[in-house]
Amino acid sequence: MAWKKHEVFETRTVALTTGILVVVAIGGIVEIAPLFSIENTIERVEGVRPYSPLELAGRDVYVREGCYVCHSQQIRTFRDEVERYGHFSLAAESMYDHPFQWGSKRTGPDLARVGGKYSNEWHVAHLVDPRSVVPESIMPPYAFLLDNDLDAVAYRANLETNRTVGVPYTDEMIEQAAFDMRQQAAPEGDWAAVQERYPKAVVGDLDGQPGRLTEMDALVAYLQILGRMVDFTEVDPEALRQH
Ligand code: HEC
Repeated sequence: MAWKKHEVFETRTVALTTGILVVVAIGGIVEIAPLFSIENTIERVEGVRPYSPLELAGRDVYVREGCYVCHSQQIRTFRDEVERYGHFSLAAESMYDHPFQWGSKRTGPDLARVGGKYSNEWHVAHLVDPRSVVPESIMPPYAFLLDNDLDAVAYRANLETNRTVGVPYTDEMIEQAAFDMRQQAAPEGDWAAVQERYPKAVVGDLDGQPGRLTEMDALVAYLQILGRMVDFTEVDPEALRQH
């Protein structure tokens, strides 16, 4: 009888423990070993690129001001979320975020696809005084961002730091960081050069103060790129509803 042989284990605690360890180890190896042979667990998606220096500075403001306390940046695969916000979030879309801003607290709406939803002027008006555009809003005002100047030259170090944690900034991107930051927010800047390095970046005088480079410029640039790097127009919306 085959099951009789099992008595060998059942009557000896050491044999049973060793047997359990061997079986569990096989399961573990099957799951863990393949991870060592691949460079990344995130599937690459076309269009995802590192943030431009101005967008990255805007992201820093976003993190510093705790916008994540009220806003998530992760659209789940549920039908109601996809219908309200758009295509569900892909891991690759936040692969260059350190730290990521997914979150689950939604006092305000999810912002993963807010880019392009409003004009730059709307964002500035909303951040200066949310109630001026959304009367029932409970969002706090951030008008002071208009007065906080950005140091484009010093910002280069932030790109270098991001590169050390794996964001693929090239030498050229780092070399041109101060130039790109100023040009992206300039009323008539070298926009072609910026968009060559950072496709789809919004350009122009974003904060309504042509002569100044402020944290408001940066935050608007960041909000306007959210969810726009990947082109989802090719995706069939019906296919999303299956989830
Ligand atoms: C106390 C909670 C709270 C904080 C903190 C907060 N927001 Fe909001 N936010 C809201 C609420 C509520 C709304 C919805 C009403 C409105 O549009 O003002 C909103 C709306 C928005 C919208 C419009 C979204 C849409 O799809 O209509 C944007 C953009 C936005 N917030 C950006 C920010 C940024 C950037 C920060 C940080 C500088 C921030 N919020 C901080 C509560 C908050």
